[in-house]
Amino acid sequence: MRLVIVGGGGFRVPLVYRALSTGRYAGLIDSVVLHDIDLPRLRAIEAVLAAMPLEGPPLTLSTELKDALPGADVVFAATRVGGTAGRVIDERIALDLGLLGQETTGAGGLSYALRSIPYMLELAAMMQKHCPDAWLINFTNPAGMVTQALQSVLGRKVIGICDSPIGLVRRAAQAAGAPLSSGSLRGVDYLGLNHLGWLRGLEYDGVDRLPGLLASPERLAGFEEGRLFGPDFLRTLGAVPNEYLFYYYRRAEAIDSIRAAEQTRGESIAEAQGRSYPELQGPEAFQRWEAARLEREEGYLAEARSAPDGNQEDRDEADLAGGGYEEVALAAMTALLTGERTELILNVPNGGSIAALPHDAVIEVPSSVDASGAQPLPVQSPPTLHQLGLMAQLKAVETAVVRAVLEGDRDQALLAFALHPLVADEQLARQLLKGYEAAFPALSTLWR
Ligand code: G6P
Ligand code: MN
Repeated sequence: MRLVIVGGGGFRVPLVYRALSTGRYAGLIDSVVLHDIDLPRLRAIEAVLAAMPLEGPPLTLSTELKDALPGADVVFAATRVGGTAGRVIDERIALDLGLLGQETTGAGGLSYALRSIPYMLELAAMMQKHCPDAWLINFTNPAGMVTQALQSVLGRKVIGICDSPIGLVRRAAQAAGAPLSSGSLRGVDYLGLNHLGWLRGLEYDGVDRLPGLLASPERLAGFEEGRLFGPDFLRTLGAVPNEYLFYYYRRAEAIDSIRAAEQTRGESIAEAQGRSYPELQGPEAFQRWEAARLEREEGYLAEARSAPDGNQEDRDEADLAGGGYEEVALAAMTALLTGERTELILNVPNGGSIAALPHDAVIEVPSSVDASGAQPLPVQSPPTLHQLGLMAQLKAVETAVVRAVLEGDRDQALLAFALHPLVADEQLARQLLKGYEAAFPALSTLWR
């Protein structure tokens, strides 16, 4: 089986390569093609992989999709169109208007979508041509919007992934004393859109353990989301939100703390990568990458993490237990390629599972995956009015962004910014779009 990684010069690629070379996923993939438009970064990551203390599948590098794609059984896309410099602009233009400036959430995420979607549509068209039977596992952000846009070309052949829902579920399950069984999400009542979801129930041994967890300040203090949102709010809410909901429930605080910091997350990553990439060469490349990776993980979502005692350990432990970035990708790949059924939280078309949302709306829910693709498991209880309201509003925003790109319709882009709950202003929407168009000239070429 051949895996093509699009965005092969990305910093997290060694995680994926390690996961497919050792442990339970070893042997699934027998050749890997790394594709990236940035040759120096591709070479740096190649050096890291070569220096890894393991025997992995043979590698080929490519800077052209037409050379990379033929023969692919599965394509893993984790690209960042516009690079980290683009991320910084997404963040800064929103912040300058007093709004949240973040990679995937709020105005910044919409700007990012307007770059990612056109590129990913090109990739999908190239896949149709060069490897029409291959699966696309999409991590390119904003993953929910991108996955929805690609439905029109790839249909069930594209599956969107994110590491945050399963990370939350594992951390909460550990804190609640409700261990998960492997390959199954039975009892896990999680529902939402990408970077906008809630854990609403956690059944173990026939009993829902979530109410007990929400009632226990001690247990809530034992994991990241519990500390992030605090026991009072969580108890009232009756669910544990995905960490990205911090930007909604603590909007003012998040904006203040990002503005008070010297650098945005994008800026600090740009600086760190400017230092680390040139050093990724020779026999020390792997150790240097590992050190840089640990440093980067310390800052994960740090811009919003005001919890004074925030400790990194529970995230690391839960991720190691299976549920990190590479785990989700490899677990999905295994099920698609071997047909061995598994359950994962994925971005898939709704079908009829949330009655109030359109059938073709991509949602993020526990899903069953096998050789026929992924489909949502029955939703355990309908969303609350609040959850449905926020999901519906964001889905309207996401749908407008996808239409803006597919139809070249600038008004739909304006509508998306105006309707986003973290903008919620038609005049600000105009300023945002103008600002992004000035910073990204390619944007204006989308409009008919
Ligand atoms: C998580 C999210 C990704 C996001 C990333 C940002 O993994 O699921 O969607 O891109 O965090 O991490 P960074 O280290 O780049 O801030
Ligand atoms: Mn994500």
